[in-house]
Amino acid sequence: MIKFIEETAEYLFNKGFKKPEIGIILGTGLGQLVDEINILKEVSYNHIPNFPTATVEFHKGKLIYGELEGKKIIVMQGRFHIYEGYTLQDVTFPVRIMQKLGISTLLVSNAAGAINLNYKKSELMIIEDHINLQGSSPLAFKGVEELGERFADMSAPYDFDINSKFKAIAKANNITLHEGVYASVVGPQLETRAEYRMLKILGADAVGMSTVPEIIVANHLNLKVAAVSVLTDECDPGNLKPVDIADIIANAEKAEPNMIVLFKELIKNL
Ligand code: HPA
Repeated sequence: MIKFIEETAEYLFNKGFKKPEIGIILGTGLGQLVDEINILKEVSYNHIPNFPTATVEFHKGKLIYGELEGKKIIVMQGRFHIYEGYTLQDVTFPVRIMQKLGISTLLVSNAAGAINLNYKKSELMIIEDHINLQGSSPLAFKGVEELGERFADMSAPYDFDINSKFKAIAKANNITLHEGVYASVVGPQLETRAEYRMLKILGADAVGMSTVPEIIVANHLNLKVAAVSVLTDECDPGNLKPVDIADIIANAEKAEPNMIVLFKELIKNL
């Protein structure tokens, strides 16, 4: 792993990805943040040595280096999911690369279903804590201790100061912003009614198929981390309708302008 990380980081460094301060993983509902970036360099994932290749077609699959609000940033346009057949080490490899290139902060966005039924479609939620229900860990491999503490601390995986800033920005801009616990599942199938009931009992406010692996690795690397979910559907086991992916994407897009305000204002204030 160390050799691969060094090789990939060197490739990107030589392409001009120099001294980024902040890494951003753009999930569903934040793709348009890219339009706000002064792009200096970009590389398709399939050109980057050792990178997994992009498969989900509505993700464009590029690593972007540029400036936003005066900060040097590195952006993953499209992420990897285990439901696409990747390992957890594949899914989190880009986080290790961004850290190697120099980031100290990682910001993540995703789309999630609302388990807490006080939270509505197209509203946003900052992740305050998570529950890993993906059945394994991105740190469960031979040699992990060469990259960081094997028994990584998870007592405060999401940065309290960044979350406070998000809340202040939301208030100043009249954006509804919830705070809650995100549970990660493997997917790609959506949950059954019994599973939604279980998630509620477990203490989840939202459920999705990403983010937790990247957050674990970011903590392993001592990065400051924050994540925002756009809630795309209301997971009410008493009144569950068949899933409509087009509707999920449309609800994510409705929240995009608010998500962009949160991220831009935060980056300005970091
Ligand atoms: N479950 C899992 N992932 C999701 C959901 C959901 O209900 N909605 C959006 N992503």
